[in-house]
Amino acid sequence: MKAIIVCTSVSHGNTQRVADVLGEVLAARVVAPDHIDAAELAGYDLVGFGSGIFLGKFHAQLREFVEALPQAQRGKAFVFATSGFPDAGLQRFSRPLVNQLGQKGFDVVDTFSCRAFDTYAPFKLVGGIRKGRPDASDLAAARTWAEGLRAGIAR
Ligand SMILES: Cc1cc2nc3c(=O)[nH]c(=O)nc-3n(C[C@H](O)[C@H](O)[C@H](O)COP(=O)(O)O)c2cc1C
Repeated sequence: MKAIIVCTSVSHGNTQRVADVLGEVLAARVVAPDHIDAAELAGYDLVGFGSGIFLGKFHAQLREFVEALPQAQRGKAFVFATSGFPDAGLQRFSRPLVNQLGQKGFDVVDTFSCRAFDTYAPFKLVGGIRKGRPDASDLAAARTWAEGLRAGIAR
């Protein structure tokens, strides 16, 4: 299985740290959207897309990259994020990106998110929330998740 991870991590490098662990397990290169030609994705069986969450959305750089992809028959994909708050309920921030990737022809097999240091303005006043995260146990959870993903795809 040939995998690659497209990741935007601009705020604190939180998502990059998670992406590096996922990349290690999946033997995948981690690249920023402006470091890969969209056409190159055709050569991969599995593509991961991840960033921090900003006002309920994935980073604009990642969203614009996906928006610009032509519709085509593609392989599998996964979506991951780091954020102050969970990907749940009305705050399900992964859904629009999952849907959009589906429209672009990807089979989105799973999503992953983990809590991370968040310095969004209201929280900045108190020095941010989720300090020190992702921590060792968050990265261990990311590793376990990626191992499950790899096993599921190999099946
Ligand atoms: C301006 C701003 C807006 C944010 N908005 C949200 C949000 O809507 N929901 C959330 O859970 N986290 C939010 N966060 C927290 C980021 O998603 C979190 O810090 C993330 O780990 C940043 O990823 P990065 O360091 O890889 O760029 C926000 C952070 C900033 C600075």
